[in-house]
Amino acid sequence: MKRILILHASQLVTCRGSHAKKGAEMQEIGVIEDGALLTEGENILLVGTTAEVLAEMEKRGIKVDDCAVTDAFGRTVLPGFVDSHTHFIFGGYRADEFSWRLKGDSYMSIMERGGGINATVTKTREASLAELKESGMDRLTTMLAFGVTTVEGKSGYGLDLDTEIRQLEAMKELESEQPVEIVRTFLGPHSVLPEYKGKEREFLDLMLDTVMPVVRERKLAEFADIFTEQNVFSIEDSRYYLNRAKEMGFALKIHADEMMPLNGAGLAAETGCISADHLLKASEEGIRAMAENGTIATLLPATAFCLKEEFANARKMIEEGCAVALASDLNPGSCFTNSIPLLMALGCIYMHMSIEEVITALTINGAAAVGRADRIGSLEPGKQADIVFLRFPSINYIPYHTAINLVDCVIKKGDLVWEAQV
Ligand code: NIG
Ligand code: FE
Repeated sequence: MKRILILHASQLVTCRGSHAKKGAEMQEIGVIEDGALLTEGENILLVGTTAEVLAEMEKRGIKVDDCAVTDAFGRTVLPGFVDSHTHFIFGGYRADEFSWRLKGDSYMSIMERGGGINATVTKTREASLAELKESGMDRLTTMLAFGVTTVEGKSGYGLDLDTEIRQLEAMKELESEQPVEIVRTFLGPHSVLPEYKGKEREFLDLMLDTVMPVVRERKLAEFADIFTEQNVFSIEDSRYYLNRAKEMGFALKIHADEMMPLNGAGLAAETGCISADHLLKASEEGIRAMAENGTIATLLPATAFCLKEEFANARKMIEEGCAVALASDLNPGSCFTNSIPLLMALGCIYMHMSIEEVITALTINGAAAVGRADRIGSLEPGKQADIVFLRFPSINYIPYHTAINLVDCVIKKGDLVWEAQV
């Protein structure tokens, strides 16, 4: 069995746990100085200080010579990052919209004029499976370089049977062609096409009765998501969709309280969504409901940054006892970046999260937001060996070396899959 032995990590961060960490628990990341870790096959066998791991190996009769040994002195070792909210499969670009926004235009007014998501729908409908896979593969390569070992990806740029399925198929095929694990989400109700304005229920029924049975049958998505927003899908329509999707066996997510305070957070708690995402305008009441129901607050600071919106109130959410995850929201409109270092810097500097909280948000809480906290998101025996090395000796370098990619190498399922060029 293949074994990798990591010794003398200046800091090895375990993020130990198999559930989302809430409130003050987000601070507990378990830093081991002079840390060591032994993998066996795809999984982690031992974690501890270098002395502890070597002693345990001797006890079990495992020889150092039988392992691929890596000296991690001067480096920081972390669980692979989980980017738990992206829209990385799409056709075309919307660079012109970004330039209009710089001149004062707003995301929602561009959308209402026929741009925005619907513009990407047109381009995605025109794109073949091979084209969607080719651009998707490029984006996955960048993710891996940022230390992302698991990513969630949404459909939602088809809004019809063929294209929604093609987006999900592209992700399914890509998963077996490169190292990043892909969690698929159906987001048919992402926008309202002009022909469905005022007939949103009809569109939701089309998704629920025609598209989602195929998605379920072909196991193309675990999660169902919806864009709940003024002039998109109302709270009532979203409640209808989420409850029916739940009955069909999908786990739930929601784009909530991004531009307008509709109390999408409260709806997420009520319907049992695993996460509510964005939450720039979440109310105190909504935040409390999420904390009480264990709904993960997935915050997307790069989107707020690109849209020049006020950041979500992460401190309030943590103080109220929510579990917070951070994700990129990579998409062609509101946020065409999947820079994990930028995300971490924004989390620490503008959202007033501690470095420890930011790490929790991108590891175990990200894993919980995609329903995989029992298998990924932490470094401990029995978990999958998804590991990131940073080329600096402590977590303090993460916000300090601001927005610079510090990743030195990445291990996925016990294999070295990416190394920085030096
Ligand atoms: O999460 N807000 C809705 N959906 C995406 C943006 C999609 C787009 O603009 O293409 C988001 O930000
Ligand atoms: Fe999104």
